[in-house]
Amino acid sequence: MPAIKGNKFVIVGGASLLGSNIGRHLLDAGAGEVVLLDNLSLGSASAVDDLIADERCSFLRGDMLRMNELFDPFDGAAGVFNVAGFLGGPMLANPWMGLDVNIRGIQNVLEAARVQGVEKVIFSSSMGVYGKITDHPCTEDAPFDWNGVGPVLALYSGSKIVGEGLCQLYHQEHGLGYAALRYSNLYGENQHTRAIDGTRVVNAWKRIRDGQPPVIEGDGTNVTDFIYIGDVARANLMAMEANANGAYNIVSGQDTSFNELIDALLAACGSDLTPEFQVDAAKVANPTVNRLNVSVAKAKAELGWAPEVDIREGMRRLVVWLDAERAAGRM
Ligand SMILES: NC(=O)c1ccc[n+]([C@@H]2O[C@H](COP(=O)([O-])OP(=O)(O)OC[C@H]3O[C@@H](n4cnc5c(N)ncnc54)[C@H](O)[C@@H]3O)[C@@H](O)[C@H]2O)c1
Repeated sequence: MPAIKGNKFVIVGGASLLGSNIGRHLLDAGAGEVVLLDNLSLGSASAVDDLIADERCSFLRGDMLRMNELFDPFDGAAGVFNVAGFLGGPMLANPWMGLDVNIRGIQNVLEAARVQGVEKVIFSSSMGVYGKITDHPCTEDAPFDWNGVGPVLALYSGSKIVGEGLCQLYHQEHGLGYAALRYSNLYGENQHTRAIDGTRVVNAWKRIRDGQPPVIEGDGTNVTDFIYIGDVARANLMAMEANANGAYNIVSGQDTSFNELIDALLAACGSDLTPEFQVDAAKVANPTVNRLNVSVAKAKAELGWAPEVDIREGMRRLVVWLDAERAAGRM
């Protein structure tokens, strides 16, 4: 599968939290050309300012829902990273557009990739494809259990399952290489507030920096899996180069309770504030669980990937970035 060094790559959704980080990794790894394609409906051009300063990198305003806008940028590309997608917040605000982007969008990308002879497409999927996780450890074979999952998450997760199905179909029918990467909650440089748990972290940081105690919903024992954005960008490059096709969990594999998360955030902020607990069941939008145990064994075996940055170091890096944004008047 295509080597990164010297080749051309397109990132669809290149102005996103993840797309901008993949762009940085591609340039650092010696890619010959990197095209960041985005319609800026959610992402921000400022996220890629530093990338386009490199002459190998360009930004192209384009809409993946218009297939004709993909043909020229895909010409000569060895691989495409399909990062664009509507997360929970945008999906709630506009489910029609969200389903279009998450389903028709990847369909257009796959078709344009086939026509232009692209070797491999890496699709940004989600751990949401499991719905409520009841299998421990949760491997890639676990079923989608959406019993009790709210409607927005059900639509989001369902759209990712369809996206993965389309990737499988293009692989089977046309030999197009693919990997569907199932992420847990992303956090890190270029953090936004479009995902539920990422928003909780940013809100807690804001309160800490305003001298107020961070708020924990419930008793804080609810766990989730957080994965540092640099680890995920690295997984995208490794999946592109790997001689393997399929779906992979790209997660930390560590269950982190909200109490532990806020503890790491307070430490990263150098704060001795004590969190406040707020019990409001109506506010809890993700299924509440106290065990996830998502497996990274398949990604380790087939892609050679493993997470490297733990939650305390990751929170430290996030706080450095958030503080710099605040100092620049952007947060
Ligand atoms: N952020 C998370 O916690 C998380 C967790 C699991 C999976 N994911 C998935 O990973 C991917 C990246 O997440 P992110 O947080 O970096 O996303 P993001 O919200 O930062 O970015 C999405 C990007 O897609 C672009 N976009 C939307 N519609 C488009 C269109 N029609 N044409 C071109 N570009 C379009 C937006 O402008 C934006 O830059 C998404 O597919 C998401 O579903 C994210």
